[in-house]
Order: sequence, then structure tokens, then C-alpha cells
Amino acid sequence: MRHLIDFGDLTRQEWDGLYARASQIMDRPEDFLEVCRGRVMASVFYEPSTRTNFSFQAAMLRLGGTVFGFADPKSSSAAKGESLKDTVKMVSGYADVVVMRTPWEGSAKAASLYSDVPVINAGDGGHMHPTQTMADLTAITRLLGRADGLSIGLCGDLKNGRTVHSLIKAMAKFENIRFFLISPRELAIPGYMRAFLQERGMGFTEVTGLEAVIPQLDVLYMTRIQKERFVDPLEYERNKGVYVLTRRKLERAKEKMLVMHPLPRVDEIAVDVDDDPRAAYFRQARYGMFARMALLADLANQPRLDQTGAVEIGTKPVCRNPRCITRTEGYLPPLVRQIGGVDCCAFCDGALS
Ligand code: NCD
Repeated sequence: MRHLIDFGDLTRQEWDGLYARASQIMDRPEDFLEVCRGRVMASVFYEPSTRTNFSFQAAMLRLGGTVFGFADPKSSSAAKGESLKDTVKMVSGYADVVVMRTPWEGSAKAASLYSDVPVINAGDGGHMHPTQTMADLTAITRLLGRADGLSIGLCGDLKNGRTVHSLIKAMAKFENIRFFLISPRELAIPGYMRAFLQERGMGFTEVTGLEAVIPQLDVLYMTRIQKERFVDPLEYERNKGVYVLTRRKLERAKEKMLVMHPLPRVDEIAVDVDDDPRAAYFRQARYGMFARMALLADLANQPRLDQTGAVEIGTKPVCRNPRCITRTEGYLPPLVRQIGGVDCCAFCDGALS
């Protein structure tokens, strides 16, 4: 593995290796204090973040490495009109690994074409968030003892929730997973995710009600309605507050069910749920730091490779997704990949026709 752009790019074996490493770090953190000594992580955040940014910084510092970066795009040269390519080229000249979050879908993939060092996708718009999935999978495996054979309820904004898309990609690597996709109809999973589930033959049921399915679940993964992704503010108003998990609703859940959430929560989990032993979200965030340590131990120690030869053949965007990175960075090659037999943009996964 050179970059972590999409969890789907990892093999099950690679994930098992990362999980084993994360477990070792949790059990004996003192053995890892020097693993990234002399290594530098660039943290390039064009979107708000508390957990992911801090978690990566803490992870690098705990491995003996150092960190620089920005968390406010106004303080970067993008505000002066610099292209993503130039920013990445420059940052990757200073750092050994680049962690990047942006509102543009496919941006981490785009950055990886020009970076001389590994790129980690810390969230690209409403598309993917693979290191959140590393946190989720670490929590599930540690707390339930397995990640195969689970019924998983994904609840909330499944259209714009990038953590949900990455988690679905990851669970395709496990046996016997059944999904309950709980969302308002207008916030259902994007077409490319439905095509992915069908292509992999994964069982899934799309429903609008939370309470009826709760008793069947091993994991209930709540998500925030992603206000910042709505083009139409009325659509947000219609959907906000639609699901609220309360202690009363939990009464019918399995005794060992995990309540998970990538955080931040707004109102989708009532505060009284926090004291229920099934509430796993704060532990999940801490596991994320260890999972990121396992990832950085590998990627920050890889050799630098000069990427000057990345192809630049496209002049016009071919993708119709208005949030796709190819719409603003016109030099990107028009890369295509097939999902469920359909030609899709290889940056944002949007269908091309
Ligand atoms: C998530 C994100 O940024 O996508 N947060 C996180 O990284 N833990 C979820 C969210 O913002 O709702």
C-alpha cells in the first residue's frame, strides 16, 4: 500500500496486518515511541475537523514524529488561487506523509497523482473517509471480538455521509454482513454505493424507520445530517432531527449491540444514551488514534518517489458531479473505473453517463 485513498484499495490481509499492529500499539505503546522519529507529517485540512485532525497529530507525536499544517484554508495559498497539484507538490517536498481533508470529492486521489510521498485521505467531501473506518473496525473488532457475521444498521444521512460509504466498502472484505440502511428517502446511499453492494452480493435492506429494525442489529451506526453538503437549505430543514436515538428506543436492542457514531453528534443520540454500556462512540474515537498510529508507522516510513511523470491529458472535466475535483482542477486526467458494470469517474465514483 502506497496511499490510503479508499478503504476498498486495501486487501483483507493488509487490514488484518494494520489491526494487528494497532492492537500491539494499544497493548505496549512504549515499544512504538521511536517508530517515526525524524519523520514529518503534513496535515492539510481545508474543512473543519476536531477528531480527525487531533487524532492524526496525536498519533504522529506518540510515534516520535512531528507535524506541521493548517486547519483553516483561508491561511493556505489555495486562497490565492493555487492549484491542488502545486500545493501537493510543494507540501510533499517538505513532509514524509500528507494527511488531507477537503470538501472536493476525489481530491485525495488527485493529490496522490502528484505527491512524492504517501497521501492519506482524511475525508474528501461526501465521498470517502477511510481512516474513520479504521477507527470503526478497530472498535468493532476489539469490543465484539469479530467483524464477520454482523448485522449493521447505518442510520441518518447515508447520501452525504462519507464515513458510511467507507464503512460499506470495508465490510465487503468480511463474511456474512447484512446491512440495514436507515434513512429518509432523499438521503439514501448514492447510486455508486448501491451498485457496489449489488456487485459484491452483500445483503442490504433500505428502510426509513429506525425502531422496527433495532432488535436485529449487532451494531447501530448513527450519523449526523451533513448540513454543509446541502445545496437546498429547505432539504436540510426537512431532514434535520429525523432520527434521535434515546434510552427508551435502546430497550429493544440486543444486550451487546454497539452504538457507534463517527462524531460530532448534533442531536441524533440523546445524552442519556452516553451512560448505557452499549454506547461505544467515545471509545471508538480513541481506537481511531491507535489505528492511525498503525497506518503512519507504515506510510510515514516509505521512501520518497518522484512523481513528476503523472499524466495530464484531460483539459475538460468529464464528470457530471458538481462536487468532483475534476470540475475545478482541469488538468486532471479523465480516469475511469467500472462499478457494477457502469463507467464511473475514478476520482469521485460518480456515474459518467
Ligand atoms: C465525520 C466526518 O468528518 O465525515 N467526522 C469525523 O471525521 N469523525 C462525520 C461528520 O462530520 O459527521
